[in-house]
Amino acid sequence: MIPKSNYAKITTHVLQEMKLKGEKIAMLTAYDFSMARILDEAGIDVILVGDSASNVMSGHTTTLPITLDDMIYHARSVMKAVKRALVVVDLPFGTYQGDSKEALKSSIRIMKESGANAVKLEGGKEILESIERILSAGIPVTGHLGLTPQSIHKFGTYVVRATEEKEAQKLVKDAKLLEAAGCFAIILEKIPARLGAKVTRELRIPIIGIGAGSAVDGQVLVLHDMLGITQKFSPRFLRRYHNLSEEIKGSVQSYIVDVKKVDFPNEREQY
Ligand code: KIV
Repeated sequence: MIPKSNYAKITTHVLQEMKLKGEKIAMLTAYDFSMARILDEAGIDVILVGDSASNVMSGHTTTLPITLDDMIYHARSVMKAVKRALVVVDLPFGTYQGDSKEALKSSIRIMKESGANAVKLEGGKEILESIERILSAGIPVTGHLGLTPQSIHKFGTYVVRATEEKEAQKLVKDAKLLEAAGCFAIILEKIPARLGAKVTRELRIPIIGIGAGSAVDGQVLVLHDMLGITQKFSPRFLRRYHNLSEEIKGSVQSYIVDVKKVDFPNEREQY
């Protein structure tokens, strides 16, 4: 039995209602038509076209190299498949931090050229002007605080963020600023569960965690990590639901053997 919520179409208002009702929000990443269709049919609430595509689709070691054109390509493919889920698209590094007008331009391109429902930006106070300008154009925005992978060269490491009181206080302050500006949700990445719970309690908008504990309003994972397509990445917060990498290898090896033995195609598989 699939614990799919009753909503025919997920909107930002539905997510707010889910928080009020205490119904958890399930979110996963997708970057292409075929996977997005499977996720949507399975009943996922939110699909994130994350800039993690830089890692899992393009093989970069960070999220920094992916471009706005790349993100629009992935988002457009996802949108062709999705009927029910809300689709949020990451603004890639370098397309919103410097200038709020550029941030708006980048967001408009994503919304116009892909048909997606919302954008996501990493950061708090530092990018508030960009967030406000995007929101003023009627584009829904998701915030992203805690471990923000676009700042990896500043952090120097992917360790848990906001374990120190000063950083935790800044995170709470930033979350409140994002809510006051009008963000409809915030993603909290790799922070102590206690802090995730505090932000979730103190804010009215949905808080979605990735390594932020179980008290938040919903969870997000990178699809390729939870399916076991990626292999070397295993942070504590990651639950693997499959070992797809090994399963695919096994199928490919069976195919190779069948082709070499001329066992494939058989009589029924030819014209
Ligand atoms: O790009 C991404 O996949 C993300 C998630 C890790 C939240 O931002």
